[in-house]
Amino acid sequence: MSQPAFKDPMAQEEALLVVNRLRKAFGQRLMFDIEDWCIEAGRAYVLTGANGVGKTTLLRILAGLESADVSDITFLGRPARLHPYPPELRQAVVYVHQHPVMFSTSVEKNIAYGLEARGLPKQEIAGRVGAALEWAGVTHLTDARPQNLSGGEKQRVALARAKVLEPTLLLLDEPTANLDGASREQVIALIPELVEAGTSVIMACHDRDLIALPGTLRLKLQDGQLHLRAGRRAPPTASLLLGGDRRT
Ligand SMILES: Nc1ncnc2c1ncn2[C@@H]1O[C@H](COP(=O)(O)OP(=O)(O)OP(=O)(O)O)[C@@H](O)[C@H]1O
Ligand SMILES: [Mg+2]
Repeated sequence: MSQPAFKDPMAQEEALLVVNRLRKAFGQRLMFDIEDWCIEAGRAYVLTGANGVGKTTLLRILAGLESADVSDITFLGRPARLHPYPPELRQAVVYVHQHPVMFSTSVEKNIAYGLEARGLPKQEIAGRVGAALEWAGVTHLTDARPQNLSGGEKQRVALARAKVLEPTLLLLDEPTANLDGASREQVIALIPELVEAGTSVIMACHDRDLIALPGTLRLKLQDGQLHLRAGRRAPPTASLLLGGDRRT
């Protein structure tokens, strides 16, 4: 009998990243102005909101790929910043694009790339890449060229490439958007395993099955604000606007 993969939505968790204020505008257009946002360690979040509301932009800001006005953030309890993006966040945060871009080498080399860039020993890289291929169920694609993969295979390889870096915070942009049937289910099944291993995951998505994953907290971006809502197993008191007492 397997254990529930996610933590109790009401459990008290360590703060991974605390943002006191994050404001983003494109020219005169204010996208969002978020206050008091706490991303807990080892927690799964879905980030929902209408098309164009700024979900991708928000993930890219957290990944250091987009600028924003950010005041006062802490990472694992220590003061940090998003600009310039510091090495400790570069090490800890991994962003997976909705349409992952891959090098036209092999699947294995794509997964190994990030570890090579970090200068890990060859033997350790081989071990970690092998484990990631197995985890994502793509061992049979080790030598395949990424451009020949199906959408679902590509997404699983992208997750393996992210997981191998052992991120503390994994940002997934619409991980199931272009998938259906078994491909979609295979990708969804990988998410709880990431969280179980201690990774915080934020998924921008519209996928009801991702939103309904037990223990997942729902963040809704609307009217320039980020609202925290309870997952399906949480009692109604957990439905709060961020900035209030989010642990009630
Ligand atoms: N570099 C940019 N310059 C100006 N406007 C931009 C830029 N990047 C994004 N935008 C605009 O910001 C808005 C938010 O875009 P974003 O891609 O973050 O939305 P989203 O919530 O992810 O939408 P979707 O659900 O369609 O993926 C869009 O209107 C987009 O056109
Ligand atoms: Mg988007």
